Amino acid sequence: MDCYTLVFGSIFTLSFLYIIAKLSSKSSEKLPPGPTPWPIIGNLHLLGAKSHASLANLAKRYGPITSLKLGQTTAVVISSSSIAKQVVQKQDLAFSSRFILDALQAQNHYQFSVAWLPVCPQCTLFSKDMDDPFSDSKVDELKDAVSGIVDVAGKINLVDYFPILEKIDPQRIRYRANIHLGKLFKLFGDLINERLEEKKRNHSEKNDILEVFLNHSAENPEEINQNHLESMLLDLFIGGIDTTTGTLEWAMAEILGQPEIVKKAQAELAEVVGKGKPIEEADVSRLRYLQFIMKETLRTHPPAPFLIPRRVDQDVELYDYVIPKGSIILVNAWAIGRDSSFWQEDSLLFKPERFRSLELDVQGKDFALIPFGAGRRICPGFPLALKLVPVMLGSMLNSFNWKLDADIEPKDLNMEEKFGAIVTKAHPLRAIPSPL
Ligand code: HEM
Repeated sequence: MDCYTLVFGSIFTLSFLYIIAKLSSKSSEKLPPGPTPWPIIGNLHLLGAKSHASLANLAKRYGPITSLKLGQTTAVVISSSSIAKQVVQKQDLAFSSRFILDALQAQNHYQFSVAWLPVCPQCTLFSKDMDDPFSDSKVDELKDAVSGIVDVAGKINLVDYFPILEKIDPQRIRYRANIHLGKLFKLFGDLINERLEEKKRNHSEKNDILEVFLNHSAENPEEINQNHLESMLLDLFIGGIDTTTGTLEWAMAEILGQPEIVKKAQAELAEVVGKGKPIEEADVSRLRYLQFIMKETLRTHPPAPFLIPRRVDQDVELYDYVIPKGSIILVNAWAIGRDSSFWQEDSLLFKPERFRSLELDVQGKDFALIPFGAGRRICPGFPLALKLVPVMLGSMLNSFNWKLDADIEPKDLNMEEKFGAIVTKAHPLRAIPSPL
């Protein structure tokens, strides 16, 4: 190599590196504030075992739009209701894609699922009446496999933050997801085939969600095929089981921790429905105090504290910042529900009465309370959940008296959370019913 080539080559390389460095520092100058990343891992070490709480603490220091580096991925955390409104409503389109976890790429589930597809025509199906859950004997098997997939999807997976590790799958998360999803798709495939045969044999129609899906698929075969059907059933189970049962468990735990709330709820049930009588869905709208309990439970324990993580497909301007393409967006509904500037200084207390004077609902219009998200990606199962959980809770309270197991004092009940795709009680509630 002659001297000229060496000199010009070096000048060219140095200039190129200088421009790249300038460009990247410019874009990072426009990033929202956040902690300084460490080499390679970035800020992964700051997530902690309860990431929703760790990120809420970071927001106290860096503000309601915080940026972090999770391995190679930029994450932006939204922790105030006004900015959540900007993101999930006003600039909804820019923030509507999903960050697809590596675990859910197993079995190509994400290609057909409502939850992971871009906003899609199939989503509207979920807003149809879905009041009849399956009453099939396979439900227990389904529940186990669903819990398995919720569990692996809730683990912090290095592959999500270091895509270079994709082929290695160091924590075997995709491997395990593959097994659970495989079982689920087999079960759903059988369920669909059995139903199709039954329909052919008896020329009959059942009044449930599978029938709605099958009819829609028959009318729009190009929009919904068997893969879509199986993935939609999976969405229904993943989205619907642990969220609703978890909410019921938190509600029971919170109110058994404050027996005066149980008394008020039982008094309302006795007056509106009649002591010991079964609760119908139609009763729910007249059970105001029960609805306050439901809202307060979802405020303090949103099952999906970051909603379902979203992603930006392009650089997006948000206020004075630029969120770089590919960033994961975490809307911290848990932190927003505890924000004392809105919820007052007793924001950490469980107090259903606060809703007597607060006309807020949970359906994506009031951004201080967004357990179901908002905008075009709002949970399509919320109408079902808002009937199902109060009916279950009301039935438990209107049929039995309850006491904590092992004579635990209500004030001593352990309310620790366990973080995952769905935040559950770290110590399952143990309560004993007795006749009313
Ligand atoms: C207490 C009960 C529930 C809670 C708190 C809840 C919460 C959520 C949240 C936070 C999201 C993401 C919204 C966003 O990104 O803005 C979501 C999405 C979703 N939920 Fe629910 N959910 C519940 C029950 C259900 C039920 C019963 C079903 C179905 C039967 C369901 C099906 C879905 C589906 C399919 C999505 C994905 C929607 C999309 O990405 O377009 N959920 N849910």
